[in-house]
Amino acid sequence: MEKFIVNGGRPLAGTVRIGGSKNAVLPVMAAALLTGEKCVIRGVPRLSDVAAMEDILESLGASVKWDKRAGVITIAADGRLLPEASYELVSRLRASFQITGPLLARTGSVKIPMPGGCAIGTRPVDLHLKGLAALGAEIEQEHGFVRAKARRLEGAKIYLDFPSVGATENIVMAAVLARGQTVLENSAVEPEIVDLANFLNSAGADIRGAGTDTIKVNGVKELRATDHTIIPDRIEAGTFMVAAAVTGGDVTLTNVVCDHLKPVIAKLKEANVSVSETAKGLRVCGAKGGAAVASDIKTLPYPGFPTDMQAQFMALLATARGTSIVTETVFENRFMHVGELKRMGADIKIDSRSAVLEGVGRLMGAQVRATDLRAGAALVLAALGASGATEIDDIYHIDRGYCQLDQKLQSLGADIRRVNDGA
Ligand code: EPZ
Repeated sequence: MEKFIVNGGRPLAGTVRIGGSKNAVLPVMAAALLTGEKCVIRGVPRLSDVAAMEDILESLGASVKWDKRAGVITIAADGRLLPEASYELVSRLRASFQITGPLLARTGSVKIPMPGGCAIGTRPVDLHLKGLAALGAEIEQEHGFVRAKARRLEGAKIYLDFPSVGATENIVMAAVLARGQTVLENSAVEPEIVDLANFLNSAGADIRGAGTDTIKVNGVKELRATDHTIIPDRIEAGTFMVAAAVTGGDVTLTNVVCDHLKPVIAKLKEANVSVSETAKGLRVCGAKGGAAVASDIKTLPYPGFPTDMQAQFMALLATARGTSIVTETVFENRFMHVGELKRMGADIKIDSRSAVLEGVGRLMGAQVRATDLRAGAALVLAALGASGATEIDDIYHIDRGYCQLDQKLQSLGADIRRVNDGA
């Protein structure tokens, strides 16, 4: 087991390049199952979640070649595909449920384990299944598995009760090869949905309206080979922006889409952090003359404030001047980092879905544990701004979604080391 040792208190400075988006590349990899032709995916970040998806696609019979240095994955699902995924592989990452729509559309049947709950909530898949059923799939759930069957899916009008990112992706992927038109209302509008639609359209799909709350998919007979570059990771970018803010540093981010970061930029500015677009990239300078100021946050589906940035912002607000209220509306249990931040001296009270933070000026290093990906990132940020040394355990969570976070932070002047537990 590896851990991070962070000696805090150094303002970060320099330039950092943001990688491709984890939450865009995973569904795009699943979507490659929709065609027997070669799909080249560029800008792929080196993450353990991408490796887990690679294993799943290979177990289904697809050929996957990942050139890690170049950040390019080539997928060819050209042989007979096994329409069944194993519990061992699927339980490694929830995004693996995104193979359901493509496998069903391509092979006419799929058997996949129900994804369980995780550290941030119960995370049901009822909306995915309702959508696939509306497209004509027969769905059964037994012994912890979902079985779906359909000779050919039929386009349908579907209204999502909640704009779920995963359900929108699964339904759109299934609808691409369905007969006729699918209209998906109250769909998610996240940039990752637009990236998936762009990938599919470049392979011959007919999807309109991605990025709005009504997506129309006109089914096509088949998809063809394509070459697609993944969008930059807006959550990795947001995390580095908070790293600059929390250390009072001066960091420029390259390979970012500022439009995707609007809610994060707005809240950083409200907290007295300077954010500006320069010729080199997006420049973030920590609050002048001391800590940031308090700011209230409510997580919402895009274009609201992202739930995937909530924990990292808490690391900043824990030291800001004044009282902040952070409300989590997307997931029911995404405050696991609070107990760990309190170990570092934060003053946070949770009342149902809200957390009240009294800024304490400075946190203190402590021994803490990453409970999930973003909670882990929040602890790294808290440690960078804290006085003294922090030891962060279970950093495998962080490696799921951040490529070489420690090395990138070191290049900005952070004192962070990765050590083996035994060392
Ligand atoms: C995606 O998860 C992301 N994961 C998450 O990233 C992100 O937090 C989330 O979207 C919200 O932005 C990937 O893209 C791989 P949802 P997803 O379906 O698709 C409820 C990270 O840290 N819901 O939009 O699972 C659900 O329980 C992560 O990178 C149902 O009730 O999110 C939740 O409360 C973790 N029924 C809410 O909707 C369903 O069938 C939003 O979930 C589906 C979802």
